[in-house]
Amino acid sequence: SFMALNVVILAAGKGTRMKSDLPKVLHKVAERPMVQHVIDTARALGADKPQLVYGYGAEALQAVMGRQPLHWVLQAEQLGTGHAVAQAIPNIADDDTVLVLYGDVPLTRLETLQQLLAAKPANGLAILTVNLANPTGYGRIVRAGENNGGKVTGIVEQKDATPEQLKITEVNSGIMALPGKQLKSWLGRLSNSNAQGEYYLTDVIAMAHSEGVEIATAQPQNPMEVEGANNRVQLAALERAYQQRKAEELMLAGANLRDPARIDVRGSVEVGNDVMIDINVIFEGKVVLGKGVTVGANCILKDCVIGDNTEIKPNSMIEKASVGADCSVGPFARLRPDSVMLDDSHVGNFVEMKKTTLGKGSKANHLTYLGDAVIGAK
Ligand code: UD1
Ligand code: MG
Repeated sequence: SFMALNVVILAAGKGTRMKSDLPKVLHKVAERPMVQHVIDTARALGADKPQLVYGYGAEALQAVMGRQPLHWVLQAEQLGTGHAVAQAIPNIADDDTVLVLYGDVPLTRLETLQQLLAAKPANGLAILTVNLANPTGYGRIVRAGENNGGKVTGIVEQKDATPEQLKITEVNSGIMALPGKQLKSWLGRLSNSNAQGEYYLTDVIAMAHSEGVEIATAQPQNPMEVEGANNRVQLAALERAYQQRKAEELMLAGANLRDPARIDVRGSVEVGNDVMIDINVIFEGKVVLGKGVTVGANCILKDCVIGDNTEIKPNSMIEKASVGADCSVGPFARLRPDSVMLDDSHVGNFVEMKKTTLGKGSKANHLTYLGDAVIGAK
């Protein structure tokens, strides 16, 4: 019996430091808008209709995100994270568990959020925290002394902290799970008399503590899971962290990567055992590689299925195509949409295929265009 999960995604910030006409959360990691990563994770968690708190760029956001189940919640003025969550109150039921996520924090793993929700006591709350060697800029997690069980008593923002509190290295990721009924009451009592003149979501922690509400914490496996992107340098760092994770997943699934730092997965890749992938290969859309497939350097594979023991030689491009087992493709081959290579067929250098089926054991080894054709076996 899981409680009703109500995910609220904060995405109202303009993202001035991106120096962009696009709202910040539409900037992409692995070809997917950052906020889409967050929405996809929320859905995987069981939230059918997350709330998206937006401010700037409504038109651009709706053009990209409009065709999916979301509660669109306008925060016309950015008066703080507490004010942002308060805009979502009309869609929060008393017995909901509210999970607050951020549209510019795309790398949080599903498992981490599941752990956070599992850590949340009934009617209590749970905060995702991280320990940072350099906690500058973050809200600090204030705990009671050890003799008090080290319970969380509040969160203090960098600009409001005492010199003593600034030494605390456990910081607030911003991601937290809260009980709907109490949250609504706490948000109604927030004040903006603080260093930034904002309504801080973090102030609800001290309110909860003073009411005797239990406060738990959970930590992500990797601090990058709670990192956001304010500028394009940070965006590139998120991209690299994401790609490193994808590379590790591929290796654990049986692929040999000549250099895990020189591969880009902008979609999903399924691999059989003993796949070998050389450097600078880009995967887009949905790609399936059978057992023993070899992909040479500088290939781009998009929405394709490659059969067992086929060799894709360097500098080849394959899009919306299917290649059988024991085939050979390239170097410098281009398979365009609706190309089908049956088992044991060969396509060599400077060969382009489109809407063509190449029969079993057939070969086009040099400088050829095959379009809108069906070519028999051998
Ligand atoms: C917040 C937390 C801080 C935490 C840090 C983690 C508060 C008061 N502080 O600080 O404890 O360590 O995140 O990164 O919550 N947003 C809105 N509407 C608003 C204000 C913010 O949608 O009115 C969105 C922003 O677009 C951004 C996110 O909320 O994505 C965080 O807001 P920001 O002002 O950057 O919070 P921090 O000062 O970083
Ligand atoms: Mg701020």
